[in-house]
Amino acid sequence: MYRCSILEESSCQKEEIAMNTLKTQNLGTSAEAIKHHYDVGNDFYQLWLDSTNTYSGALWEENDANDTLELAQLRKLDFHINQARAKGAKRVLDIGCGWGSTLKRLIEVHDVEQAFGLTLSKAQAEWIASLNLPQAEVKLESWQDHSPVEPYDAIISLEAFEHFTKLELSHKERIAVYRKFFSHCHQWLKPSGWMSLQVSTYGNSRREDSSQFVFTEVLPETDFPTLAEIIEGSERIFEIVAIRNYRQDYEYTLKAWLSRLKANRAAGIELVGKEVVSRFEKYLSLSSICFHQGISNLFCFTLRRIDNPRKDSSC
Ligand SMILES: C[S@@+](CC[C@H](N)C(=O)[O-])C[C@H]1O[C@@H](n2cnc3c(N)ncnc32)[C@H](O)[C@@H]1O
Repeated sequence: MYRCSILEESSCQKEEIAMNTLKTQNLGTSAEAIKHHYDVGNDFYQLWLDSTNTYSGALWEENDANDTLELAQLRKLDFHINQARAKGAKRVLDIGCGWGSTLKRLIEVHDVEQAFGLTLSKAQAEWIASLNLPQAEVKLESWQDHSPVEPYDAIISLEAFEHFTKLELSHKERIAVYRKFFSHCHQWLKPSGWMSLQVSTYGNSRREDSSQFVFTEVLPETDFPTLAEIIEGSERIFEIVAIRNYRQDYEYTLKAWLSRLKANRAAGIELVGKEVVSRFEKYLSLSSICFHQGISNLFCFTLRRIDNPRKDSSC
């Protein structure tokens, strides 16, 4: 029977009430702020992302001079699809599906029957609609409002988590949002379901020292979590089976994006103007330094749904 055992079978109800009291509904990036970053223009992103239009850190083959951004992105998608045990599955959800590269890969290479995507970007949803993927269904909807008719076999979410909270939130509010997110994923997954998550986090740095430029001018109403906050958000809801930091891979990805943008600078200026191109160049350059120095990290989590949460009073 499909139901939220974490809430119905354990003593977590108190926590759910607390989460609702905290009004976690609008604590993440607003649709307006998403538009500012993602709806700059699909043509612009196509100039510097790889041909799959994947907008998250790729996984590179170490010491392989022939590796390319596109191969590294496909390797990353396959990694997450395998970690989520999604091959051959009936229904898979991608939370924050971007321009649909994971959905496409799930259907075309991994024999998934139906791939569902959520995004807050209208430009991305329109792009996916143009891909002609009858087995893909995309909703312009926040995970907070999602309510599937049937459970999913697996869930994947690549670098959407950073949009679920913003800088000014208190620790309590932040953890409440993260626990709500993991509780929803738990509720939507079949028993023993798996989830693969990729998230940029603070590394050897503190939130109060984070870049105002990045979190106000480039990605407004966005914030990284710390590793500890993700663990606190998921504990007793999901079992963490594997965690690995791929920060160097993100440095390579950001450098590849930057060099492609620079190579296409004139075309970029034509499409979106000099100010936007310069802002993205500065963002990609600054971010590559942060991942190089360990100021930021890139974590991949393999998570397994806990089907029988303990019914103790400590929740
Ligand atoms: C950095 S992009 C990553 C896209 C994609 N996962 C990829 O790897 O190419 C972040 C994505 O998260 C989506 N997003 C942000 N907040 C969201 C929310 N509350 N619910 C669903 N999607 C959200 C954005 O619309 C965007 O598609």
